[in-house]
Amino acid sequence: MHSKSVLAALLAPAAVSAQLNDLAVRAGLKYFGTALREGAINSDAQYAAILGDKREFGQLVPENGQKWESTEPTRGQFTYTQGDITTNTAKKNGQGVRCHTLVWYSQLPSWVRDGSWTKATLTEVMETHINNVMGHYIGQCYAWDVVNEAVGDDGNWRPNVFLSTFGTDYIPLSFNLAKKADPNTKLYYNDYNLEYNGAKTDRTVELVKLVQAAGAPIDGVGFQGHLIVGSTPSRSNLATTLRRFTALGVEVAYTELDIRHSSLPASSSAQVTQANDFANVVGSCLDVAGCVGVTVWSFTDKYSWIPETFPGQGDALIYDKNFNKKAAWTSISSVLAAKATGVPPVSSTSTSTSTSTSTLTTITTTRVPSSTVTSTRTTSAAPSSTSSASGAEQTRWGQCGGRYWTGPTKCQSPWTCQVQHEWYSQCL
Ligand code: G3I
Repeated sequence: MHSKSVLAALLAPAAVSAQLNDLAVRAGLKYFGTALREGAINSDAQYAAILGDKREFGQLVPENGQKWESTEPTRGQFTYTQGDITTNTAKKNGQGVRCHTLVWYSQLPSWVRDGSWTKATLTEVMETHINNVMGHYIGQCYAWDVVNEAVGDDGNWRPNVFLSTFGTDYIPLSFNLAKKADPNTKLYYNDYNLEYNGAKTDRTVELVKLVQAAGAPIDGVGFQGHLIVGSTPSRSNLATTLRRFTALGVEVAYTELDIRHSSLPASSSAQVTQANDFANVVGSCLDVAGCVGVTVWSFTDKYSWIPETFPGQGDALIYDKNFNKKAAWTSISSVLAAKATGVPPVSSTSTSTSTSTSTLTTITTTRVPSSTVTSTRTTSAAPSSTSSASGAEQTRWGQCGGRYWTGPTKCQSPWTCQVQHEWYSQCL
């Protein structure tokens, strides 16, 4: 090769796949993953194709298939048909699996929930369940959600059959039983609303300490991340909350992320706010050593638990119902790409700016100091001000600008770079 072209090749920005798991791994996370809806994977080819692309999703979680009501609906009779859908899909596509969940008050068959138990009899039931289910999936789970949602929204211990039989001792007991059943998977406590750092979070810190004080193993805390557009905490507040747990020696992850609109249809400014909120959540994980990954709770608005539970709300995911990538997808990709390509992490001072998609937005951002000196800069979302390391030109439809964008900002003739919203400009 001619020396000039060698030089050009070296100076050209490294080709970074624009897919979320690839970017997440390059950015230092272990994975970017999604829940798998068992009822959709065999009937919707477009869903299966995106979900099965490991460059996009490196890890899968069964949305319902491994829960107690699915795996042991009748005492002593185990069935793995639903749960195996996820592990088989992951195996076929070279993806990892997070396993969900063992001890939970919900989707618990009535024979457990309404049974009359002593500590001894319920221990036997829990041990049999955990041994069988973890045994079936042994070697396949990066992590298991051992105990799910043991804390109520008010910060008190959530009443359930386990608490009424054992008191809080059921929590370390569950972790001990899980360790015996599979010593090589990560053992997680998993809950929602921890992100707000209130009474529920305080109690969960106590839970981790309680397990540790009992000498039981706990490796991680899952922040489910079922959040609301416009009410999502800032990136730095989220990071502060994650660090309360990593300070206890456990890893953390966002395990069920979705950010719902509280009314529909969402306006274009609400979609930009949603994109900012997603970026803040993913960004907070990047900011915390010990935050290992992010999982979205389904990736498309076509399949989400939200409309059933919160009628009139939703569109909480990163692809729309027709599998088009939303602004939220782009904002996540941009935040990951910024970290993956070595651009210093940037924290926005206007994280919830409501902007029109048709106007240019000026955003003031502050570099996180790499030394003691903090520099402040003002960037515009207009592509002309986005820096690019090369003179490369983007093809028609390609991205040519947006917050954190480091790729080409010029378009091949006759196309021009047009701002769609603050996260995304496109050659049109
Ligand atoms: O199994 C029945 C099926 O027989 C019936 O034909 C069908 C008719 O609608 O319903 C099926 O049950 C549904 C079940 O999911 C399995 O598909 C329930 O109606 C439905 O309410 C249930 O919802 C799940 C919910 O957990 C239950 O609590 C959601 O899909 C699932 O996304 C959601 O996930 C939870 C996490 O596991 C824990 N964190 C919160 C998160 C959201 O609630």
